Amino acid sequence: MLEKLDQIERAALTALEAASDTAALEAWRVAHLGRSAPLMTVLGDLGRLSKEERPAIGKRGNAVKRRLEEAYAAKAERLRQAELERAMRAGALDVTLPGRPVARGRLHPATLGLRDIYTIFADMGFQIYRSREVETDAYNFELLNMPPHHPARDNWDTFYTTNPNVILRTHTSPGQIHAMRQFCPEPIRVILPGMCYRYEQITARADIQFYQVEGLAVGHRVTFTDLKGTLSGFARRLFGQQVRTRFRADHFPFTEPSAEMDVECFVCGGKGCPVCKQTGWLEILGCGMVHPTVLRNGGYDPTVFSGFAFGMGPQRITMLKHRIEDIRYFFQNDMRFLEQF
Ligand code: DAH
Repeated sequence: MLEKLDQIERAALTALEAASDTAALEAWRVAHLGRSAPLMTVLGDLGRLSKEERPAIGKRGNAVKRRLEEAYAAKAERLRQAELERAMRAGALDVTLPGRPVARGRLHPATLGLRDIYTIFADMGFQIYRSREVETDAYNFELLNMPPHHPARDNWDTFYTTNPNVILRTHTSPGQIHAMRQFCPEPIRVILPGMCYRYEQITARADIQFYQVEGLAVGHRVTFTDLKGTLSGFARRLFGQQVRTRFRADHFPFTEPSAEMDVECFVCGGKGCPVCKQTGWLEILGCGMVHPTVLRNGGYDPTVFSGFAFGMGPQRITMLKHRIEDIRYFFQNDMRFLEQF
């Protein structure tokens, strides 16, 4: 019987050696320490042995049982460690790998163009003044020296609402009146950026909605020289220090005298090319000295105050700078266009 116990022990330990995962270990436990394991049969049958045999066999049987239990526990721990290590190796992170790039948003080319302009005028002491996109006929036309039926109104094809007095602004100039009425009688130096709307045929050069940036300076001795200095300084910052500018006489109802400012074509350097239509010059903005009537409509006494104003289409400037051929690209949300900026 003692020999049989030795054999049971040896067989069990050999089998345990072979168990290589937790499933095999569990099978081993059932086979060698379970209720119908050979060892358990021996221990269960102790009562049938003679009084003389029983103590020795019992003692040996219990020793084998303890031995197997300990071996089982040790093996279980080893397997657990091995499995943990395997799992850690499988899920290992290589912290030296480069990160995956995150797709980032970007600013719209129209916004970028506006911000360039803001920066330059901010450096010259101009504040940004926001005014409404939905205007009355009075602000958009009358107070800017265009009474009803004034022929100059034909230059601004207008979107009307069901109320004929309420329109979408056709330019940012009505903001001049808002700013003057707010600040009068203080001096003013503001730019007024924003969206404008015109009821026009959509083409590569004209959209029904577009940005403008208006400028207004009012003070006691603001002169045409201030206007020229401010705007040519602006052009040099935007297009390069060497760029030349020229002012051509023009007409706007809200300024007197009025002018257009051209910059030397930065594509051909003034020699003439398709971008400047062989003229060597690019038309950038309209400007002038604020008309006395407009000053008065803003609350300023034109015998005491004077001012200059200007208005430009920043998208047109962005188009010239980046050789964008069609203004419709701006608001078509085509990623192939937007991602270039
Ligand atoms: N409002 C004009 C337009 O939409 C642009 C303009 C011209 C604005 C001359 C001005 C100015 O302030 O002085 O075409």
